[in-house]
Amino acid sequence: MTDFEYRDRRLFCEETSLEEIAKMTGTPCYVYSNRTILDRFDAYNLAFGDIPHTVCYAVKANSNLALLNLLANAGAGFDIVSGGELYRVLKAGGDPRKVVFSGVGKTSDEIDFALSHNIFSFNCESEPELELIDSIAGERGVKARVAMRVNPDVDAATHPYISTGLREHKFGIDIAEVEDVYRRGMALANVALESVSCHIGSQLLDTQPLLEALRKMLGLIDRLRAAGAPISHIDLGGGVGVPYRSSEQRPDIDAFVQDLRGLLAGKRLHAMVEPGRSIVGEAGVLLTRVLYRKRNGDKEFVIVDAAMNDLIRPALYQSHHEIAPVALSDGETIRADVVGPVCETGDFLARDREMPDLRGGDLLAIMTAGAYGFAQASNYNSRPRPAEVLVDGKGWRIVRRRESYDDLIQPEVGARAEIVQ
Ligand code: LLP
Repeated sequence: MTDFEYRDRRLFCEETSLEEIAKMTGTPCYVYSNRTILDRFDAYNLAFGDIPHTVCYAVKANSNLALLNLLANAGAGFDIVSGGELYRVLKAGGDPRKVVFSGVGKTSDEIDFALSHNIFSFNCESEPELELIDSIAGERGVKARVAMRVNPDVDAATHPYISTGLREHKFGIDIAEVEDVYRRGMALANVALESVSCHIGSQLLDTQPLLEALRKMLGLIDRLRAAGAPISHIDLGGGVGVPYRSSEQRPDIDAFVQDLRGLLAGKRLHAMVEPGRSIVGEAGVLLTRVLYRKRNGDKEFVIVDAAMNDLIRPALYQSHHEIAPVALSDGETIRADVVGPVCETGDFLARDREMPDLRGGDLLAIMTAGAYGFAQASNYNSRPRPAEVLVDGKGWRIVRRRESYDDLIQPEVGARAEIVQ
């Protein structure tokens, strides 16, 4: 179930008509459901129940302040990968004591910024990074909580660009070598190595690889504890995948967490997870209007006003997003590529897709676009980024206004005012 459904043959988000939003805000425009976001967050949080846990929403999936605020108020922690994401979390009222800082290339400024706000923990990806955290914490006179990110050598069986848990990937430290790193790290004065972390990849529809990674991590924790490391926390990385195709099954968050709980029973560990996609993915659509129909030889094109700069997932990962007409009709169907105005053949939202017999002006919703949608949007082709709207029942509000032409040039005008007419 999601909160996007037809009522009287018109697509609604919760109790709000998408036609109404498009009329008021223009297109392209991202629309998010408050209810879906909270449902999915609660699914994780409630399934952990009374065992010590923190659900750290992965900010990279969608970093809009309104969404972060919603999740902060629901009690979420946050998984960040940059100083900019920490800044957003703080501005949105998130609790820095529930923040974990992941990422393979943290700079000294970012580490210092995070220490100044006393974040919960760093997920540290290399020994040089551990030494840098130790020295910056020493300068500040604080002790930094650190988990080494372990590469458990488990195949996540997902798209190669978003698979991270194999030895050949740049992430984490090989599980075979990490015990030595803990041994050396425990001798450092300004870090507390009381946690382990891993993340094997994103968009996992089968949860077995995640459970296999947990089994390997629990074996590691036994060995680390036997060697004297006081491990109290385990961070299992991102959450489950989402069904991008209507034929795909949605992984059951509750069943997944129950499996985790089964393996964690009696282990005296505080469990942490960092889901992004499964919280916001199905909570968002990208609304776009048909500009033109066009035929080249045998090929039919539907040209819409959203493009790869607004949603790059189809171009970058060949990912499939269902495309739903906002108003249902009964007529003929066509087979067409749905493409945007950007000057690249790679600028497509769907290829060879069965679609209604669309006309200029028709509205479409590109489904399951809440995660890694706006977050990966750019100004390519000098296209202002779209507006974002958050729906709550019958009410809705713009949570990011559409960018203007002036927004496009502002940072340059600041630097080189003299060339502007
Ligand atoms: N934790 C870490 C350390 C991560 O690297 C990621 C995602 C997550 C958590 C959140 O994973 P999730 O629950 O969302 O699966 N742009 C790509 C996805 C990149 C994912 C990167 N890391 C896409 O559009 O599919």
